[in-house]
Parts: sequence; structure tokens; C-alpha cells
Amino acid sequence: MNSRFDQVIERKNTLSLKYDFHTERNKAEDVLPLWVADMDFPIPEPVQKALQERVKHGIFGYSDGKEDYNQSVIQWFSKRFSYRPAEESLVKTPGVVYALAIAVKAFTKEGDSVLIQNPVYYPFADVIQQNNRKLVTNPLIQEYGKYRMDFEDLERKIQKYAIRLMFLCSPHNPVGRVWTKEELLHLGEICFRHGCIVVSDEIHCDFVFSSHEHIPFPSLSKEWEQQSILCTAPSKTFNLAGLQISNIFIANPQLREQFIQESEKNGYSQCNIMGLIACQTAYEQGEAWLEELKTYLRGNISYLQGFIQQYLPKIRYFPQEATYLAWLDCSALFDTQEELESFIEEKAKLWLDSGTMFGEEGKGFMRLNLACPKVILERAMEQLRKAYEELEF
Ligand SMILES: Cc1ncc(COP(=O)(O)O)c(C=O)c1O
Repeated sequence: MNSRFDQVIERKNTLSLKYDFHTERNKAEDVLPLWVADMDFPIPEPVQKALQERVKHGIFGYSDGKEDYNQSVIQWFSKRFSYRPAEESLVKTPGVVYALAIAVKAFTKEGDSVLIQNPVYYPFADVIQQNNRKLVTNPLIQEYGKYRMDFEDLERKIQKYAIRLMFLCSPHNPVGRVWTKEELLHLGEICFRHGCIVVSDEIHCDFVFSSHEHIPFPSLSKEWEQQSILCTAPSKTFNLAGLQISNIFIANPQLREQFIQESEKNGYSQCNIMGLIACQTAYEQGEAWLEELKTYLRGNISYLQGFIQQYLPKIRYFPQEATYLAWLDCSALFDTQEELESFIEEKAKLWLDSGTMFGEEGKGFMRLNLACPKVILERAMEQLRKAYEELEF
């Protein structure tokens, strides 16, 4: 064993969505889960200790964060991304998806249109449609084995559908892009010109690889900062999704007030104390752990690249600039998504997220979560290879 991340920890019978809900989600019991975006790794030790200390206290009454909490969050972003949001702009929510839903309700009316860039994290479409807003898509373009934004289509749709709100996924889940400064500037100019608020979901910002650089959208311009909302959370970075805490930065006081009022209307006030403690401790003491984790994930990414090239040549692995989610183009294997899905589940015995969950543009794709000990990834790939070798091309 070379790394602490090699350790396999049994997650069954822990009420884990990934490991304990096969029946409820219509999956066979024997499929290996590499779907939902959480990691099979324990959180940093200082965070575990801080939580244990709090548990010892034994009382869990209503709680809230104070200035030192805010400063830890701000410090993280200012150190890692050279962006220092103002303290008063911080609004805490029990999750980023919750914040997206609140933004939809606070900044648009029923029947209004909201724009997303497919293929994209599926709750984006859900919170728009479930709140009776119209979904408008500005699909990403696949070109030379890489995705890019379609700016002409973006501007046309913003005008045609009078879009006042869009969700940006930066870095992008599932296509793994880190948007460049030029791309973000182009998008920002269009949105700013047409008065469209950009809700930038940057939950994956801590998983950016090689020479790519994550740029927080509101850091690009003081004016755009007033017309955008930055969604962050320690949940992907430190594997804390079950503790339900996220930090939303809303610089514009009017938008902030509207957002807070909408959140209160929905009955939310204080946060989960364990989430607060975990978040603050992770941002204060978890950086070395994160760097070690990123090295480990880079190893899994290059293993996956090599394996696919060598043994699964008809599958295309999109360059992964960010996130721990691999976006696999399996369109050369089958004509229909149903055939691909049953191959993955019944023959390869894997539980992956089907590409079409992210929009019709994901047809032919599967998303694989590689944030697990390498032996688990190896097992998954061997299962896939065995099934693949039985296919007749
Ligand atoms: C882009 C993106 N946003 C939000 C979330 C979930 O955020 P939360 O659990 O804070 O609602 C995920 C989880 O995978 C995600 O990929």
C-alpha cells in the first residue's frame, strides 16, 4: 500500500446512496457502483477529530457560523484562486442544488426561461423544470475531441427567450472542461450585455489538473460580480456531501436580499453544526490532504487513460481537465442508449451514470466516478474489458 487513499473501506450498510440503494434505484445487487459524485475516501484526520470532539459535547441545538467561519471560507478562495469575496456577500445554504433552486425562484417568475449548457449535471434541468420555468439549452459543441461553448447560439437564445438567468458549470461536470479566461470573458460579455444573471456553480473548482487554472467567474470584473452568484462547497473537495453545507457568494446586496428572502420563505434558517465544523476545519487544515488526494486522482486518471487505449480502443475518454468524473464516449459500441446501459449493467456489472441523464447530448456516453481506491477502479475496468471482449464488432 503506497497511499492512504489505497485503503478500501467497506461502505455498505452506512446508508450510503452509492452503496446501499441498489434496490430502490432499480439496480442489480451485484453491480459495482461508480456513479454518484462522492468519494470512497475518508475525510482528512483533523476534520474527523473536530467532529468527534463536537459529538462528545453531546448537545446539538440550533447553531450558526461566526466571523472565523466566514474568514476560513474566504481565505481558501483568496489563497487558491486569488479571489477575495466580501464577507457580507456570504450566504450559507444546505447544498448547492438548493441554492440553484432558490436562485430560480428568487430571480425569475413561473413561465420564464432559464438557460443551461448541456450535457450538464442533471439537477440543473430538474430545478428549473420542477419550478415551472422553461428550460432553454445552449448545447456545448464537441470539436477535435474537446468541448467548447457555442457563443453565437448563447446570444441568440438569450435574446430569443429573454433569458435573465443562466447556470454555468465551472469546471464542467460531466465534460471535465476548465473554462479558460477567454471563454469566461466571452460568456460574461454576452450575459452582461443582455442583463442575464450568471449563477456559477464552482463546486468542482478544487479538482483542476495539469496546467489548467480555475478562474472564479465573479473575479473577472467588478461589474459582473454584481450580476453573478458564486456557488461553492467543501462537499466535493473533502467528501462531506452528507453534512450538507455550502457557501454562496452574492456580491450584489439587492440580489442577496432577494435570495435570502426566498430561502427564508422555504423555511430554511440555520445550518447543520457538523457541516459548519467540518467545513471550517477542512478549509483551515485540509490543504495538504487535498494535494495528496489530487496526486492520487491523477494516478487513477492516467491508469484509466492507458487502460482504455490499450484494451477498449472503441471507447473515447474525453480529456479530463478537472473533476473526478470521467466522461466516456461509448457511441461506437451500440446504436441506442438502452443497449449501452444494459451492456454496462448486465454484462460489465457496473453502475455508472448514463450520458442521457445529462441531456440528450449525452447519448452514447457514460460517466464514471474514479474517486475510489485504485483496486476498485481496476476491478471495474477488468469487468468492463471482459464484457467488451465478448462484443462482436
Ligand atoms: C456541478 C455540481 N453541482 C452541485 C452538486 C451537488 O451539490 P450539493 O450536494 O451541495 O447540492 C454536484 C454534485 O455532484 C455537482 O456536480
